[in-house]
Amino acid sequence: MPTEIDLLTTLHKALRSMIYSLGPRLQALDFRDREATRELLVEMKRDFGTAIGSNCILCLLHSHAGNEDAFVLPETMRFEPELTRTLMADHHDFTTRMRSMATISTQILASDERDLRVDLGLRLNREVNEFFARYLAHMNREEEKLIPAMKAHLSDDDIMRMGSAIEERTPPAEMLAYARWMLPSLNPTELVEFVEGAHASFPPVLFRELMRTGTSTVEPARWAAATKGLR
Ligand SMILES: [Fe+2]
Ligand SMILES: [Fe+2]
Repeated sequence: MPTEIDLLTTLHKALRSMIYSLGPRLQALDFRDREATRELLVEMKRDFGTAIGSNCILCLLHSHAGNEDAFVLPETMRFEPELTRTLMADHHDFTTRMRSMATISTQILASDERDLRVDLGLRLNREVNEFFARYLAHMNREEEKLIPAMKAHLSDDDIMRMGSAIEERTPPAEMLAYARWMLPSLNPTELVEFVEGAHASFPPVLFRELMRTGTSTVEPARWAAATKGLR
């Protein structure tokens, strides 16, 4: 029985907002200024050596691809093998690119030479721009091709199982990190659906944290409209 549930688009909206937020700040960054550089790169980078900073922007982009590899693409391989293989190859390419960006970031943070930091900063901007362009195109392809195929071939139960598996594997701190980007990125209909779904399925402590996150990140009138059914 086909489904109308779309597991990916709301998450993609969060990821796009991260990309749209980081891009302008990175290209305007003064790499001579060590403190400003450190602040932005720590927010951005994934440290593959220590896996520290699981809420950084590249960490969340990485974990989304990892969740698809673990719970979504093994299923879609059955009915869309070619598309699924290209999406897996993209994910692999993203990991390689993220390692390279992490290496350059580490070099920038370790360097005392301002000119070297500026040169590496130019390179980092180019690599990040290429990565973001590929990631944006990849999400469009998933929305254009993968989601309709999932809707046609999977049931409500199948999609809910994938969603629960992803929720179970995601630590609460990471969920809230996603929520900070996602809640203000959703349209009013999606926001109501998300809040109602979270109210039904999240543990109470996590739901309370989510409400706090919404209060601090979503425009007040919009948040009040999205949560009025809960009061
Ligand atoms: Fe993906
Ligand atoms: Fe995706």
